[in-house]
Amino acid sequence: MHVIRVVVKHQDHSYDINIKPGIFKKWRELVVECARGGKILSLVDRNLMDIPAFQEECGSAHSPGLLMVTPGEARKNLAQYSELCEAALGQGLDRNSLLVAVGGGVTGDLAGFLAATLLRGLRLVQIPTTLLAQVDSSVGGKTGVNSAAGKNLVGAFHQPEQVIIDPTLLLTLPDREFLAGLAEVVKTGVLAGPELFNQLRHNQDGISRRDPEVLAQVIRDCCHFKAEVVMADERETGKRAMLNLGHTFGHALETLAGFNGSVLHGEAVAVGTRLAVDFSRQQGGIAPEAAQAIRDCLQAFGLPDRISRLGTGPFKPDWQELFQGKGLEEALGHDKKVGRQGLTLVIPKGIGEWEIQAGVALARVAEHLRNSLAAE
Ligand SMILES: NC(=O)c1ccc[n+]([C@@H]2O[C@H](COP(=O)([O-])OP(=O)(O)OC[C@H]3O[C@@H](n4cnc5c(N)ncnc54)[C@H](O)[C@@H]3O)[C@@H](O)[C@H]2O)c1
Repeated sequence: MHVIRVVVKHQDHSYDINIKPGIFKKWRELVVECARGGKILSLVDRNLMDIPAFQEECGSAHSPGLLMVTPGEARKNLAQYSELCEAALGQGLDRNSLLVAVGGGVTGDLAGFLAATLLRGLRLVQIPTTLLAQVDSSVGGKTGVNSAAGKNLVGAFHQPEQVIIDPTLLLTLPDREFLAGLAEVVKTGVLAGPELFNQLRHNQDGISRRDPEVLAQVIRDCCHFKAEVVMADERETGKRAMLNLGHTFGHALETLAGFNGSVLHGEAVAVGTRLAVDFSRQQGGIAPEAAQAIRDCLQAFGLPDRISRLGTGPFKPDWQELFQGKGLEEALGHDKKVGRQGLTLVIPKGIGEWEIQAGVALARVAEHLRNSLAAE
């Protein structure tokens, strides 16, 4: 088992991230121990109840102590948050109760925000079941929901009591969702430096085959890196902002696409990372070899790296049309990181090197997106 201890200064809190293939079979035991006699309420991704591995462990959707969460970006909203609040309070929780999130990033962010706000704060265990949630969203305490004005605009920092990660749970994840998670893995590799970045290329085959032992190591390295960043800057007043690499571009694309499932968060992050690399390259900020290595890595894993290739299904966005008019500027303007002076961008300067540029004119970023699409 890989164990990573996260120590955060706010509320003098620390917790373990436990990573082990097969650990999910022990989840009840671990959660009961963590609850220390308090009532336990589990919030479970509704889709998981159709999968035998989860049915065996969680029971049916109507089992006592379970609430169902509808996943997907469109339902990470205030309406579902409010429904879950009422349903959770209807279960007679008290300040000593423990919430457990079993699901992807949407379930984790919603359950986390519930834990942050119900009865002014309840304890939370995260059991992430998507790759994205295992390497990123379950660690670090960011919780929240989207609003009509943009992504993650309503939320709170609320660190979990424990994170339990079982890479074998990823075996049932649809290919598209697995790939979307890989985008955050590649992003982490770019930020963390050559050791992790080269490991990803080296283990590409095992990762793509979803070998649980290989994944356990990759997840450990990603969580270790994220934990270090979070411990240094829990509330994102500085260094933690680097984790937003690719996200300013990505969030704008996601917002324009309309949160209807045509573009997944990780897919938008993959394209956003490519756009950030190109933006840096145009300023002479990154050596051509490093820029190429990042593009190659995205391509090697089969991640979308062009705007025109982003999106699928009945709501596939027409980017040419969406980029006309002021919609693009509005979508960029909804980013949390926008200030009066402009946008804050994470600019990759090499593998393991980056710079945070504040006050970048929104018009310049919009122009970069339009030029990139035109050049594809
Ligand atoms: N809090 C943070 O720090 C942070 C960081 C990164 C991303 N996020 C957020 O995470 C969200 C995206 O999370 P996500 O990609 O996990 O999406 P998600 O939670 O919607 O899950 C994606 C899909 O996978 C299914 N699924 C989950 N686990 C499965 C499994 N083991 N087998 C089969 N299917 C499974 C779900 O039912 C869903 O259909 C976004 O809202 C994003 O903003 C948060």
